[in-house]
Amino acid sequence: MKRKIILDCDPGHDDAIAIMLAAQHLDVLGISTVGGNCSLENVTINALKILELIGRPDIPVYPGHSRPTVGELVTAPQFHGKSGLDGPDLPAPKIKPREKHGVDFITDTLRSAAAGGITLAATGPLTNIAAALNRAPDIAGRIREICVMGGSVTFGNWTPQAEFNIFVDPEAAYRVFNSGVPVKMCGLNLTRQCVITEAELNLIRKIPTRTARAAADMLGFYVEAERKNLGIPGGDLHDPCAVAWLIDPSLITGAAMHITVELKGEFTRGMTVCDYRHLHAGDPERDLCHNPAISFRGKEPNAEAGLRLNRDGFMKLLLDTLARYP
Ligand code: RIB
Ligand code: CA
Repeated sequence: MKRKIILDCDPGHDDAIAIMLAAQHLDVLGISTVGGNCSLENVTINALKILELIGRPDIPVYPGHSRPTVGELVTAPQFHGKSGLDGPDLPAPKIKPREKHGVDFITDTLRSAAAGGITLAATGPLTNIAAALNRAPDIAGRIREICVMGGSVTFGNWTPQAEFNIFVDPEAAYRVFNSGVPVKMCGLNLTRQCVITEAELNLIRKIPTRTARAAADMLGFYVEAERKNLGIPGGDLHDPCAVAWLIDPSLITGAAMHITVELKGEFTRGMTVCDYRHLHAGDPERDLCHNPAISFRGKEPNAEAGLRLNRDGFMKLLLDTLARYP
C-alpha cells in the first residue's frame, strides 16, 4: 500500500522533481498549489504541465493561497525564472485546475479519510496548511504527520537565518510547527547535502525519455541559476529530499527536537529556532546523535529534524524513478 499524501507545493524546479518522485512512489490524493517561487497562477500551470509530462493527468490540482498570511508575496525568479519553471519547453497544459480551493481540498480530504491515514507533504510556503488548520482545527488530530521542506537547523538561504519557504510566510510556519501535529523538518542543513552535480545531470540526459529530457532541461536551468546566484557547482535538490523521506525513511537520519519560528526578530524573522541542546554529547564525534543518557535540557520535542542524508541512496531513487517515466 502506497502512503497517502497531499502535496502542497510551489513549482519551482525542485518541486517539479519532487512531484515526479511522489507520483511514482506515493499515493498522491491531490496537489494544492501556493504562491512562492512564482505567482499562484504560474505555479499552478507548472504543476499541471508536470503532471501531463509524466502521464498523470489523474492527479487533481487545487490552487490555494496566492499570498502569505501577512504581507506581500516574495518570489524567487532568480532561481526559477519568470515562469517559475524556465528551461524546458513544455506545452501549455490541456488539463485544468479544479474549482475547489486548495485549503478546502485539504480540509475536506482529511475529514473524509480515516484519522491518521494521510500525510501532508509541503515543499513551498506553509500558507495553505496553516489556513486549513485555522479554518478547521479538528483536522490536526487527523493528519498522520506533516513533512516540510523548509527551515534549517543551521543557517538560512534567503537571509542569514531564514530559509525561503519559512521566510515567505513565518506566521503560517509558526502555526504548523506549534499545531501539535508531528512534523518532519527537511531543512537546508539536510538538503544542502543533495547538490546534484553536472556528472549526475549528464546521467539524466542519457535517459531516452521525454520526462528525463524535460527534467534534465529543468535541472540544467536550475543548476546554472544556483551557480550564478550561490556560486555552488550544482543545484540543491531541496524539495525532492522531503518527498524521498516519505518514500524511504531510511534515506534520512533525523533527531527529535523542539522547533518554533521567530516572528519578531529584526534580523531573524523566519528563522526556525531548533532546540537540540540535548544532542550535545560532549564529544564532537557523537554530537547531534541522540544520546539517551543525556538528560533532556531543551524543550519537549515537537518535530524531527533531518540531519544526515544517504546521498547515494537518494540519487539511485531519483535516477531509477526518472527512467521509469515515459
Ligand atoms: O529554500 C528552498 C525552498 O524554497 C524550495 O522549496 C524551493 O522550491 C523554494 O520554494
Ligand atoms: Ca518549493
